[in-house]
Amino acid sequence: MKLSNIEVINKVGEEVVLAGWVHSIRKMGKIVFVDLRDRSGIVQVVLVESELENKKEIELSSIKPEYVLEIKGIVQKRGDKQINKDLPTGTVEILAKSVKILAESETPPFEIDNEERQANEELRLKYRYLDLRHERMQKNIRLRHEIIRAIREFFYQEDFLEIETPFLSKSTPEGARDFLVPSRNYPGKFYALPQSPQQYKQMLMIAGMEKYFQIVRCFRDEDQRGDRQAEFTQLDVEMSFVEQADILNLIEKLIVEVMNKVKPDVETHNYASIPRITHAEAMKKYQSDKPDLRKDKNDPNEFAFVWITDFPMFEYKEGDKRWGAAHHPFTAINPEDLPLLEKQQPKAGLSAAAGLDKIRALQYDLVLNGSEIAGGSIRTSDPKILHKVFEVLGHSDKEIKAKFGHLLESFKYGAPPHGGVAFGLDRFIAILAGETSIREVMAFPKTSDNRDPLMDAPSEVEKEQLKELGIKIK
Ligand code: AMO
Repeated sequence: MKLSNIEVINKVGEEVVLAGWVHSIRKMGKIVFVDLRDRSGIVQVVLVESELENKKEIELSSIKPEYVLEIKGIVQKRGDKQINKDLPTGTVEILAKSVKILAESETPPFEIDNEERQANEELRLKYRYLDLRHERMQKNIRLRHEIIRAIREFFYQEDFLEIETPFLSKSTPEGARDFLVPSRNYPGKFYALPQSPQQYKQMLMIAGMEKYFQIVRCFRDEDQRGDRQAEFTQLDVEMSFVEQADILNLIEKLIVEVMNKVKPDVETHNYASIPRITHAEAMKKYQSDKPDLRKDKNDPNEFAFVWITDFPMFEYKEGDKRWGAAHHPFTAINPEDLPLLEKQQPKAGLSAAAGLDKIRALQYDLVLNGSEIAGGSIRTSDPKILHKVFEVLGHSDKEIKAKFGHLLESFKYGAPPHGGVAFGLDRFIAILAGETSIREVMAFPKTSDNRDPLMDAPSEVEKEQLKELGIKIK
């Protein structure tokens, strides 16, 4: 087994076996210096032909950047003047005793050892496996791993059950377009990829699971932006027998745990006591429902969280000339405002003047440095109120039955009071990584126009496949 490059610092005088990629190579007369890179970092290897046991088998001049080498050699302390302070292994170097080329490499389409990446996004994504070799991307992917690990450990400790929910499902109203999957067994019928596990997690509460979490992919066919992907990851949470404050307190505990693990040195933060302000206050004071409360926006190590609570339940969609749910229809209405809902006569069709925006929901968002990183709510567990909300949103009785009948039905069998929250994990991780685009913290993201240049997706399919599905392309 090879050692990690970083491990050599404690092996001075010993013989070691290393393996990795040629990060860079410098030839100085008969001596060749290779910066050998593995996932732990870089170590300098000194190749002197006369010192090599296998000099007959290898042509040193044939070694090029990104070749994969196995090196057997002796760890040597560098002289004071040769110490490289920029490298964690900079106090030592490896005097090679033998070199094996494990794989050759063509010249990559962009430089791997140059962090000032000039490559455009198309090229970076087409050769994502090379792009991911960059130190910055390696760091981001590792940070993502650390954050997800800390989150899982937290929820296991808090006695939550990790439960998977289906991807082949039915449309759920989170406000975006669905990705549809045609059914072979039922031509003309489609599954929808879930925009979130919202309805499943609520039914898990009815099933008596009480504390659920999942790190889960969500699918929304919407236009991409720096903080949006069609396919993204949520930390999804739901709990029974809780009030809003219980959920906010739990999430604050999670934030402290995660931040202490992944950002132990950061002092400019407010995560030990996250301020809570109402939507109305935020709009009045900051003209925004995601205010950036950092004192110094240029400080990459400042993390300012804020809860925004008491969102309005409904918002008027000017484009469609109808009322929509500000979060989603399953959100509970503030009990003080229930009379306002009850007096509505939705069958008459509700105009903008109906004033539904006065009705507050038990909904909250978590905002970090001006970005919405999580959102959730206490849910309506009274099927009569839920039915009324669907009516106000303009659904007919027939539609309500077809779209949400399963959920309303489940609520008839002892629905506990429940609520939850979901984090946009990619956003949270991107901010902690100091990146402006969530693509920089996803291993295989899509382009801004929703393509995967690496796999060349979306792509055409065989005629036979379409026939099986009963689909004709117009
Ligand atoms: P919501 O729709 O607010 O709530 O989503 C939760 C969080 O997910 C992130 N997010 C996204 N991240 C990347 N790309 C996207 N296209 C994208 N869309 C949303 C945001 C957002 O805060 N089921 C409810 C949660 C609940 O009520 O428990 C839900 O999905 O950071």
